[in-house]
Amino acid sequence: MVEINSVLQEGRKFPPPTAFAAAARLGDPAEYERLYRRSLDEPEAFWAEVAAELHWFEPWQAVREWSHPHVRWFVGGRTNLAYNCLDRHLTAGRRTKAALIWEGEPGETRTLTYLELHREVCRFANVLKSHGISAGDRVAIYMGMVPELAVAVLACARIGATHSVIFGGFSPNAIVDRVNDAQAKVVVTCDGGWRRGRIVPLKDNVDEALERCPTVAHVFVLKRTQQHVHMKEGRDHWWSDSMDQVSHDCPAEPLDAEHPLYILYTSGTTGKPKGVVHTTGGYMVGTYLTTKYVFDLREDDVYWCTADVGWVTGHSYVLYGPLANGATVLMYEGAPNHPDVDRFWAMIDRWQVSVFYTAPTAIRAFVRWGEEHPKKHDLSSLRLLGTVGEPINPEAWMWYRRVIGGDRCPIVDTWWQTETGAIMISPLPGVTPTTPGSATKPFFGVDADVVRRDGTSCGPDEGGFLVLKQPWPSMLRTVWGDDERYRQQYWSQIPPFYFAGDGARRDADGNFWIMGRIDDVINVAGHRLGTMEIESALVSHPAVAEAAVVPRPDELKGSGIVAFVTLEGGRRPTDGLVDELRDHVSKEIGAIARPDQIRFTDALPKTRSGKIMRRLLADVAANRELRGDTTTLEDLSVLQQLREADEG
Ligand code: WTA
Repeated sequence: MVEINSVLQEGRKFPPPTAFAAAARLGDPAEYERLYRRSLDEPEAFWAEVAAELHWFEPWQAVREWSHPHVRWFVGGRTNLAYNCLDRHLTAGRRTKAALIWEGEPGETRTLTYLELHREVCRFANVLKSHGISAGDRVAIYMGMVPELAVAVLACARIGATHSVIFGGFSPNAIVDRVNDAQAKVVVTCDGGWRRGRIVPLKDNVDEALERCPTVAHVFVLKRTQQHVHMKEGRDHWWSDSMDQVSHDCPAEPLDAEHPLYILYTSGTTGKPKGVVHTTGGYMVGTYLTTKYVFDLREDDVYWCTADVGWVTGHSYVLYGPLANGATVLMYEGAPNHPDVDRFWAMIDRWQVSVFYTAPTAIRAFVRWGEEHPKKHDLSSLRLLGTVGEPINPEAWMWYRRVIGGDRCPIVDTWWQTETGAIMISPLPGVTPTTPGSATKPFFGVDADVVRRDGTSCGPDEGGFLVLKQPWPSMLRTVWGDDERYRQQYWSQIPPFYFAGDGARRDADGNFWIMGRIDDVINVAGHRLGTMEIESALVSHPAVAEAAVVPRPDELKGSGIVAFVTLEGGRRPTDGLVDELRDHVSKEIGAIARPDQIRFTDALPKTRSGKIMRRLLADVAANRELRGDTTTLEDLSVLQQLREADEG
């Protein structure tokens, strides 16, 4: 097995390869400097020029209206993101270009040209319309990674229905919370999805959830896995039957630039997931420009982002950003190790992928599986690699560069969040020298800084809070139904700046190094999970009195989940109970939240005011020296007990 170490002092530097820079969209550092300065000094002029590359039905009256903490971009303008992702290309020489190349996990393939994708989207938009859905209604989408997922998302955008994509790995309970919070009228799903050769019972999960979702009137069901599913008369409709009944003529709705495009739920520090709201015009412009420059997109690229559309990366960099740029997008349904651990490399070879964007957790798995697997395939079509989701260990970065990138491809380590909508900090591959483990420099228009609690800037290499000081086009506009939470969560912790939970440092060259979450959020395999949510799930089990969940370092997933649990009187810790609790969390939230370890204890360390001291528990879980301040601890003997607590 290969060891991956975190190297704190990282000196290796990789300037953009000369040939890459020569052909890049941005290859001249002076030109980059000029653009970056302009984007900060004259943001309105800068973004207006970018927006003008896209289609607007009506021009905006003002580029930006900023009234802290609310922003509006392209005020009064009317546009449509589906139009910009599809119709715009039909007259621009991309009519017969592949928009989506899709591979199912069992191995079948499909290609949809821009014209074909446009037709499917128009038809599904008509299906929604004919069932009474119009601009402003919410549509929940709970599907596997199939082309129809893209069709459903874009159809919503076309008519202005606000979509809420729910990751296909989530359980019925997670569907209930999200559908009810958004008050969705429609759910779009599949009979099932393929994952590692097994069927994920998507429709059964929806059926179970909808018993508790009173707002849903219609369910559209795509046949994918062909097993028998229950269809409820009047409520459930087969996708293909519905599509047969409508035309493919559906003009795109001219929508206000601030029309809510989607809600995407993400973990926060309190129990309930937050519905992050993105709107139309600013999000479009932000995803369009970042895709163009960070991925240096060219007309003949085959672009592959391996993220699931259930997460923000799939929204911005599988669908909206690349399609707004008229790219050819590869989409894959299943697991990276099915039927074998070389699946991704076989696909890169098969489709001649040129730009590849994946997550550090995947890269760590590839390292572990061994470099003989990528070596079996011709990866010479690759010209650019990217990562997102969590800090990447320098050794994994070096492996990615050498084994996958053949020492020739630049790597863009992109930092951003569900809330930022688009990439905020990243190298631009033709101009930015990269260094393993650093996301390097802010993107155009991004005024990022590392500050102390009082908002003053940190010095070089001084760790602090990563903040954004100016609003940007693709930023979230609010938390669905809870604007107070929006103010509190993002704008009140380090006022007046935007702060969303990451610690960082900036080195003497101005490169950013993301140090990870400082709040009660665990980043497992690149996905954010709120500790509170997992704790709530544990406490909902009848045997559990109290639970505290903390991360511990995990070689593969970045962070593993450790749960400290106290039991109800009369319940005794057993191995059976450990399994039961882990299964219980899987069922309540999804397998991704399943604790790696359950530790039973008689009491949890608390402050005098009763707050659980998770920092101490994190040290215990990681077998570290206790670093935290223990002076506020109520009962010191608790700690000794914890150290000795049973390991599950
Ligand atoms: C983490 C995913 C280090 C970070 C797009 C952030 C990263 C959270 C990076 C957002 C990166 C994302 N380096 N950390 N390149 N990219 N993160 O909302 O902690 O699922 O706050 O969005 O992932 O996760 P989210």
